[in-house]
Amino acid sequence: MTRTIRWGILSTANIANRRVAPALKATRNGEVAAVASREIDKAQQFATDHGIPKAYGSYGELLTDPEIDAIYIPLPNSEHARWGNLCAEAGKAVLCEKPLARDATEAQMLVSTFAEKQLLLVEGFMYRFHPQTVKVREMLKSGAVGEITALSSAFSFSIRSETNVRLNPILAGGALMDVGCYCINVMRLMTGEEPETARALAHFGASNVDERLAATVQFPSGAIGHFDCGLRGYRTHTYEIRGTEGRILVERGFTMEPGDEHIIRWWHGDDYEEVRTPMANHFTLMAEDFADALLTGRQPRYPATDAVHNMRAIDMVREAAVNHPME
Ligand SMILES: NC(=O)c1ccc[n+]([C@@H]2O[C@H](COP(=O)([O-])OP(=O)(O)OC[C@H]3O[C@@H](n4cnc5c(N)ncnc54)[C@H](OP(=O)(O)O)[C@@H]3O)[C@@H](O)[C@H]2O)c1
Repeated sequence: MTRTIRWGILSTANIANRRVAPALKATRNGEVAAVASREIDKAQQFATDHGIPKAYGSYGELLTDPEIDAIYIPLPNSEHARWGNLCAEAGKAVLCEKPLARDATEAQMLVSTFAEKQLLLVEGFMYRFHPQTVKVREMLKSGAVGEITALSSAFSFSIRSETNVRLNPILAGGALMDVGCYCINVMRLMTGEEPETARALAHFGASNVDERLAATVQFPSGAIGHFDCGLRGYRTHTYEIRGTEGRILVERGFTMEPGDEHIIRWWHGDDYEEVRTPMANHFTLMAEDFADALLTGRQPRYPATDAVHNMRAIDMVREAAVNHPME
Protein backbone atom coordinates (compact mmCIF):
# COMPACT_ATOMS: atom_id res chain seq x y z
CA MET A 1 0.00 0.00 0.00
CA THR A 2 1.23 3.48 -0.89
CA ARG A 3 2.26 5.54 2.13
CA THR A 4 1.87 8.92 0.47
CA ILE A 5 -0.97 10.66 -1.28
CA ARG A 6 -0.80 12.72 -4.45
CA TRP A 7 -2.24 16.20 -4.13
CA GLY A 8 -3.69 18.36 -6.89
CA ILE A 9 -4.06 22.11 -6.30
CA LEU A 10 -7.15 23.70 -7.81
CA SER A 11 -6.02 27.19 -8.89
CA THR A 12 -2.99 29.37 -8.48
CA ALA A 13 -4.49 31.24 -5.50
CA ASN A 14 -2.30 33.48 -3.43
CA ILE A 15 -2.69 31.30 -0.34
CA ALA A 16 -1.67 28.22 -2.31
CA ASN A 17 1.37 30.01 -3.68
CA ARG A 18 2.56 31.61 -0.45
CA ARG A 19 1.68 28.98 2.13
CA VAL A 20 -0.04 25.77 1.14
CA ALA A 21 1.99 24.46 -1.82
CA PRO A 22 5.25 24.61 0.23
CA ALA A 23 3.43 23.15 3.25
CA LEU A 24 2.03 20.23 1.24
CA LYS A 25 5.47 19.55 -0.20
CA ALA A 26 6.87 19.42 3.34
CA THR A 27 4.44 16.71 4.51
CA ARG A 28 5.79 13.27 5.43
CA ASN A 29 2.88 11.53 3.66
CA GLY A 30 2.07 13.56 0.57
CA GLU A 31 3.43 14.98 -2.65
CA VAL A 32 2.09 17.69 -4.93
CA ALA A 33 1.52 16.03 -8.29
CA ALA A 34 -0.39 18.69 -10.25
CA VAL A 35 -1.78 22.21 -10.31
CA ALA A 36 -4.61 23.59 -12.44
CA SER A 37 -5.53 27.13 -13.40
CA ARG A 38 -8.07 28.69 -15.73
CA GLU A 39 -4.98 29.87 -17.63
CA ILE A 40 -2.29 27.40 -18.63
CA ASP A 41 0.49 30.02 -18.37
CA LYS A 42 -0.34 30.63 -14.73
CA ALA A 43 -0.46 26.91 -14.01
CA GLN A 44 2.91 26.38 -15.69
CA GLN A 45 4.52 29.25 -13.80
CA PHE A 46 3.13 27.94 -10.49
CA ALA A 47 4.35 24.43 -11.32
CA THR A 48 7.83 25.74 -12.14
CA ASP A 49 7.97 27.85 -8.99
CA HIS A 50 7.03 24.93 -6.75
CA GLY A 51 8.59 22.02 -8.65
CA ILE A 52 5.23 20.41 -9.46
CA PRO A 53 5.38 17.84 -12.30
CA LYS A 54 2.03 18.55 -14.01
CA ALA A 55 0.25 21.80 -14.93
CA TYR A 56 -3.26 21.95 -16.38
CA GLY A 57 -4.99 24.85 -18.14
CA SER A 58 -8.44 23.91 -16.83
CA TYR A 59 -9.80 22.69 -13.52
CA GLY A 60 -11.64 19.82 -15.26
CA GLU A 61 -8.37 18.24 -16.41
CA LEU A 62 -7.13 18.04 -12.83
CA LEU A 63 -10.36 16.40 -11.69
CA THR A 64 -10.09 13.67 -14.31
CA ASP A 65 -6.41 12.92 -13.65
CA PRO A 66 -6.46 9.32 -12.30
CA GLU A 67 -3.13 9.87 -10.53
CA ILE A 68 -4.59 12.47 -8.16
CA ASP A 69 -5.84 11.23 -4.78
CA ALA A 70 -6.87 14.50 -3.14
CA ILE A 71 -7.61 18.03 -4.23
CA TYR A 72 -6.89 21.20 -2.28
CA ILE A 73 -9.47 23.91 -3.10
CA PRO A 74 -8.35 27.51 -2.51
CA LEU A 75 -10.97 29.14 -4.74
CA PRO A 76 -13.07 32.22 -3.87
CA ASN A 77 -15.66 31.28 -1.23
CA SER A 78 -18.56 31.22 -3.71
CA GLU A 79 -16.81 28.44 -5.67
CA HIS A 80 -15.98 26.06 -2.80
CA ALA A 81 -19.17 23.99 -2.86
CA ARG A 82 -19.53 24.04 -6.64
CA TRP A 83 -16.04 22.66 -7.25
CA GLY A 84 -16.24 20.49 -4.16
CA ASN A 85 -19.24 18.76 -5.68
CA LEU A 86 -17.43 18.28 -8.98
CA CYS A 87 -14.47 16.77 -7.10
CA ALA A 88 -16.87 14.36 -5.37
CA GLU A 89 -18.34 13.38 -8.73
CA ALA A 90 -14.79 12.66 -9.90
CA GLY A 91 -14.18 10.53 -6.79
CA LYS A 92 -11.56 12.83 -5.25
CA ALA A 93 -11.02 13.54 -1.56
CA VAL A 94 -11.03 17.26 -0.78
CA LEU A 95 -9.30 19.65 1.57
CA CYS A 96 -11.29 22.86 1.09
CA GLU A 97 -10.39 26.34 2.22
CA LYS A 98 -12.54 28.00 4.85
CA PRO A 99 -15.41 28.75 4.96
CA LEU A 100 -16.68 25.52 3.38
CA ALA A 101 -19.56 27.11 1.45
CA ARG A 102 -21.69 30.23 1.06
CA ASP A 103 -24.10 29.20 3.80
CA ALA A 104 -25.06 26.28 6.03
CA THR A 105 -27.53 24.78 3.56
CA GLU A 106 -24.88 24.59 0.85
CA ALA A 107 -22.31 23.27 3.35
CA GLN A 108 -24.71 20.55 4.55
CA MET A 109 -25.41 19.43 0.98
CA LEU A 110 -21.70 19.19 0.26
CA VAL A 111 -20.99 17.26 3.46
CA SER A 112 -23.87 14.84 2.70
CA THR A 113 -22.58 14.25 -0.83
CA PHE A 114 -19.11 13.36 0.44
CA ALA A 115 -20.58 11.14 3.18
CA GLU A 116 -22.76 9.27 0.66
CA LYS A 117 -19.78 8.67 -1.58
CA GLN A 118 -17.59 7.78 1.42
CA LEU A 119 -15.07 10.40 0.40
CA LEU A 120 -12.95 12.43 2.75
CA LEU A 121 -13.80 16.13 3.11
CA VAL A 122 -12.05 18.53 5.49
CA GLU A 123 -12.40 22.30 5.98
CA GLY A 124 -9.04 24.06 6.07
CA PHE A 125 -9.03 25.82 9.45
CA MET A 126 -5.32 25.17 9.85
CA TYR A 127 -4.85 27.04 13.16
CA ARG A 128 -6.63 24.14 14.96
CA PHE A 129 -3.58 21.94 14.28
CA HIS A 130 -1.04 24.35 15.73
CA PRO A 131 0.53 23.18 19.04
CA GLN A 132 -0.49 26.51 20.57
CA THR A 133 -4.18 25.84 19.88
CA VAL A 134 -3.86 22.23 21.04
CA LYS A 135 -2.24 23.43 24.28
CA VAL A 136 -4.95 26.01 25.00
CA ARG A 137 -7.59 23.30 24.61
CA GLU A 138 -5.68 21.02 26.99
CA MET A 139 -5.38 23.83 29.51
CA LEU A 140 -9.10 24.55 29.37
CA LYS A 141 -9.92 20.85 29.78
CA SER A 142 -7.77 20.70 32.89
CA GLY A 143 -9.61 23.69 34.39
CA ALA A 144 -7.07 26.45 33.71
CA VAL A 145 -9.74 29.17 33.77
CA GLY A 146 -12.48 27.33 35.66
CA GLU A 147 -15.87 27.62 34.03
CA ILE A 148 -15.74 29.71 30.85
CA THR A 149 -17.80 32.87 31.24
CA ALA A 150 -16.68 35.01 28.32
CA LEU A 151 -14.60 34.80 25.16
CA SER A 152 -13.42 37.47 22.80
CA SER A 153 -11.62 37.43 19.49
CA ALA A 154 -10.54 39.82 16.77
CA PHE A 155 -9.23 39.26 13.27
CA SER A 156 -8.55 42.10 10.90
CA PHE A 157 -6.03 43.22 8.31
CA SER A 158 -5.81 45.84 5.59
CA ILE A 159 -6.66 44.73 2.11
CA ARG A 160 -4.20 45.96 -0.52
CA SER A 161 -6.18 45.82 -3.75
CA GLU A 162 -9.71 46.97 -4.52
CA THR A 163 -10.06 44.01 -6.91
CA ASN A 164 -9.41 41.46 -4.14
CA VAL A 165 -11.96 38.62 -4.12
CA ARG A 166 -12.82 39.54 -0.51
CA LEU A 167 -14.44 42.80 -1.66
CA ASN A 168 -16.73 41.02 -4.14
CA PRO A 169 -20.19 40.07 -2.83
CA ILE A 170 -20.79 37.74 -5.79
CA LEU A 171 -17.73 35.72 -4.73
CA ALA A 172 -19.08 35.57 -1.15
CA GLY A 173 -16.51 38.03 0.17
CA GLY A 174 -16.73 40.18 3.28
CA ALA A 175 -15.01 40.29 6.64
CA LEU A 176 -17.30 37.79 8.34
CA MET A 177 -16.74 35.13 5.67
CA ASP A 178 -13.02 35.82 5.34
CA VAL A 179 -11.80 36.30 8.89
CA GLY A 180 -14.80 36.48 11.22
CA CYS A 181 -15.24 32.78 10.49
CA TYR A 182 -12.04 32.14 12.54
CA CYS A 183 -13.36 34.12 15.52
CA ILE A 184 -16.55 32.05 15.48
CA ASN A 185 -14.59 28.85 14.98
CA VAL A 186 -12.26 29.42 17.91
CA MET A 187 -15.10 30.25 20.28
CA ARG A 188 -16.92 27.07 19.25
CA LEU A 189 -13.69 25.08 19.55
CA MET A 190 -12.84 26.36 23.01
CA THR A 191 -16.34 26.07 24.51
CA GLY A 192 -17.28 22.86 22.66
CA GLU A 193 -20.68 24.49 22.23
CA GLU A 194 -22.77 25.95 19.42
CA PRO A 195 -23.96 29.55 19.80
CA GLU A 196 -27.72 29.91 20.21
CA THR A 197 -28.27 33.60 19.61
CA ALA A 198 -26.39 36.48 18.00
CA ARG A 199 -26.44 40.27 17.84
CA ALA A 200 -24.30 42.07 15.30
CA LEU A 201 -23.40 45.38 13.69
CA ALA A 202 -21.73 45.72 10.33
CA HIS A 203 -20.29 48.47 8.17
CA PHE A 204 -20.88 47.79 4.49
CA GLY A 205 -18.43 49.77 2.35
CA ALA A 206 -18.81 50.87 -1.24
CA SER A 207 -17.83 47.33 -2.16
CA ASN A 208 -21.17 46.15 -0.73
CA VAL A 209 -19.56 43.52 1.49
CA ASP A 210 -19.28 43.79 5.27
CA GLU A 211 -15.88 45.47 5.55
CA ARG A 212 -16.15 45.61 9.34
CA LEU A 213 -18.36 43.60 11.65
CA ALA A 214 -18.79 43.13 15.38
CA ALA A 215 -20.97 40.51 17.00
CA THR A 216 -21.95 39.01 20.32
CA VAL A 217 -23.05 35.39 20.58
CA GLN A 218 -24.44 33.40 23.48
CA PHE A 219 -23.73 29.74 24.20
CA PRO A 220 -26.11 27.29 25.94
CA SER A 221 -23.93 27.25 29.08
CA GLY A 222 -24.47 31.00 29.37
CA ALA A 223 -20.95 31.87 28.21
CA ILE A 224 -20.92 34.97 26.04
CA GLY A 225 -18.56 35.49 23.13
CA HIS A 226 -17.86 38.66 21.23
CA PHE A 227 -15.68 39.37 18.27
CA ASP A 228 -14.89 41.90 15.60
CA CYS A 229 -13.40 41.42 12.18
CA GLY A 230 -12.41 43.69 9.36
CA LEU A 231 -10.81 44.06 5.96
CA ARG A 232 -9.48 47.58 6.48
CA GLY A 233 -7.86 47.50 9.90
CA TYR A 234 -4.47 46.97 11.52
CA ARG A 235 -3.35 43.35 11.40
CA THR A 236 -4.78 41.58 14.45
CA HIS A 237 -5.53 37.89 15.05
CA THR A 238 -6.15 37.23 18.69
CA TYR A 239 -8.48 35.53 21.19
CA GLU A 240 -9.03 35.48 24.90
CA ILE A 241 -10.91 33.12 27.19
CA ARG A 242 -12.07 34.25 30.62
CA GLY A 243 -13.52 32.04 33.31
CA THR A 244 -14.43 31.84 36.97
CA GLU A 245 -10.81 31.02 37.97
CA GLY A 246 -8.55 32.50 35.34
CA ARG A 247 -7.90 34.03 31.97
CA ILE A 248 -5.98 32.93 28.86
CA LEU A 249 -4.81 35.36 26.21
CA VAL A 250 -3.46 34.26 22.85
CA GLU A 251 -1.96 37.27 21.14
CA ARG A 252 -1.40 35.65 17.73
CA GLY A 253 -4.01 32.95 17.39
CA PHE A 254 -4.75 32.22 13.75
CA THR A 255 -2.08 32.94 11.12
CA MET A 256 1.01 31.73 12.92
CA GLU A 257 4.21 31.63 10.87
CA PRO A 258 6.30 28.43 11.00
CA GLY A 259 9.30 30.20 12.53
CA ASP A 260 7.43 32.22 15.12
CA GLU A 261 7.62 31.53 18.83
CA HIS A 262 4.26 31.72 20.56
CA ILE A 263 3.32 32.56 24.10
CA ILE A 264 0.06 31.67 25.82
CA ARG A 265 -0.53 34.24 28.60
CA TRP A 266 -2.28 32.69 31.58
CA TRP A 267 -3.57 34.47 34.68
CA HIS A 268 -4.95 32.35 37.54
CA GLY A 269 -5.41 33.27 41.18
CA ASP A 270 -2.65 35.80 41.91
CA ASP A 271 -0.29 34.18 39.41
CA TYR A 272 0.72 34.89 35.85
CA GLU A 273 2.44 32.31 33.63
CA GLU A 274 3.76 32.27 30.09
CA VAL A 275 3.27 28.94 28.36
CA ARG A 276 5.44 28.37 25.29
CA THR A 277 4.63 25.84 22.56
CA PRO A 278 6.84 24.47 19.77
CA MET A 279 7.16 26.21 16.41
CA ALA A 280 5.18 24.47 13.70
CA ASN A 281 3.73 24.79 10.23
CA HIS A 282 0.03 24.28 10.90
CA PHE A 283 -0.76 23.82 7.19
CA THR A 284 1.65 20.89 7.07
CA LEU A 285 0.17 19.37 10.23
CA MET A 286 -3.35 19.72 8.81
CA ALA A 287 -2.36 18.13 5.50
CA GLU A 288 -0.59 15.26 7.30
CA ASP A 289 -3.69 14.54 9.36
CA PHE A 290 -5.75 14.61 6.16
CA ALA A 291 -3.38 12.22 4.36
CA ASP A 292 -3.23 9.84 7.34
CA ALA A 293 -7.04 9.73 7.39
CA LEU A 294 -7.11 9.03 3.66
CA LEU A 295 -4.42 6.34 3.81
CA THR A 296 -5.75 4.50 6.85
CA GLY A 297 -9.49 5.14 6.60
CA ARG A 298 -9.59 6.69 10.07
CA GLN A 299 -11.59 9.85 10.77
CA PRO A 300 -9.81 13.19 10.32
CA ARG A 301 -9.17 15.15 13.52
CA TYR A 302 -12.03 17.53 12.70
CA PRO A 303 -15.08 16.09 10.90
CA ALA A 304 -16.66 17.89 7.96
CA THR A 305 -19.87 18.28 9.96
CA ASP A 306 -18.03 20.83 12.11
CA ALA A 307 -17.96 23.08 9.03
CA VAL A 308 -21.76 22.96 8.82
CA HIS A 309 -22.03 24.07 12.46
CA ASN A 310 -19.55 26.87 11.82
CA MET A 311 -21.51 27.95 8.77
CA ARG A 312 -24.76 27.98 10.79
CA ALA A 313 -23.17 30.35 13.28
CA ILE A 314 -21.88 32.53 10.42
CA ASP A 315 -25.39 32.61 8.94
CA MET A 316 -26.85 33.61 12.31
CA VAL A 317 -24.36 36.47 12.71
CA ARG A 318 -24.80 37.59 9.10
CA GLU A 319 -28.56 37.72 9.50
CA ALA A 320 -28.21 39.74 12.71
CA ALA A 321 -25.78 42.14 10.98
CA VAL A 322 -27.95 42.66 7.92
CA ASN A 323 -30.79 43.62 10.24
CA HIS A 324 -28.56 46.12 12.05
CA PRO A 325 -26.22 47.79 9.56
CA MET A 326 -24.33 50.79 10.90
CA GLU A 327 -25.47 52.96 8.00
N1 LIG B 1 -6.25 29.31 5.55
C1 LIG B 1 -5.71 30.49 5.32
O1 LIG B 1 -4.77 30.92 6.00
C2 LIG B 1 -6.21 31.31 4.17
C3 LIG B 1 -5.52 32.48 3.84
C4 LIG B 1 -5.97 33.19 2.72
C5 LIG B 1 -7.07 32.76 2.03
N2 LIG B 1 -7.74 31.64 2.40
C6 LIG B 1 -8.90 31.17 1.64
O2 LIG B 1 -8.41 30.70 0.40
C7 LIG B 1 -9.31 31.04 -0.65
C8 LIG B 1 -8.56 31.83 -1.70
O3 LIG B 1 -8.08 33.03 -1.15
P1 LIG B 1 -6.87 33.83 -1.85
O4 LIG B 1 -6.65 35.07 -1.11
O5 LIG B 1 -5.71 32.92 -2.05
O6 LIG B 1 -7.57 34.17 -3.25
P2 LIG B 1 -6.93 34.56 -4.66
O7 LIG B 1 -5.48 34.83 -4.55
O8 LIG B 1 -7.81 35.61 -5.25
O9 LIG B 1 -7.08 33.21 -5.48
C9 LIG B 1 -8.27 32.65 -5.86
C10 LIG B 1 -8.01 31.83 -7.10
O10 LIG B 1 -9.23 31.27 -7.52
C11 LIG B 1 -9.25 31.17 -8.93
N3 LIG B 1 -10.56 31.66 -9.38
C12 LIG B 1 -11.56 30.90 -9.89
N4 LIG B 1 -12.64 31.63 -10.16
C13 LIG B 1 -12.33 32.91 -9.84
C14 LIG B 1 -13.04 34.13 -9.91
N5 LIG B 1 -14.29 34.19 -10.39
N6 LIG B 1 -12.43 35.24 -9.49
C15 LIG B 1 -11.17 35.20 -8.98
N7 LIG B 1 -10.45 34.06 -8.90
C16 LIG B 1 -11.02 32.92 -9.32
C17 LIG B 1 -8.07 31.94 -9.47
O11 LIG B 1 -7.10 30.98 -9.88
P3 LIG B 1 -6.71 30.69 -11.42
O12 LIG B 1 -6.66 32.04 -12.08
O13 LIG B 1 -5.41 30.03 -11.31
O14 LIG B 1 -7.78 29.81 -11.98
C18 LIG B 1 -7.50 32.67 -8.28
O15 LIG B 1 -6.10 32.73 -8.27
C19 LIG B 1 -10.48 31.77 0.02
O16 LIG B 1 -11.51 30.87 0.27
C20 LIG B 1 -9.90 32.25 1.34
O17 LIG B 1 -10.90 32.32 2.36
C21 LIG B 1 -7.30 30.92 3.47
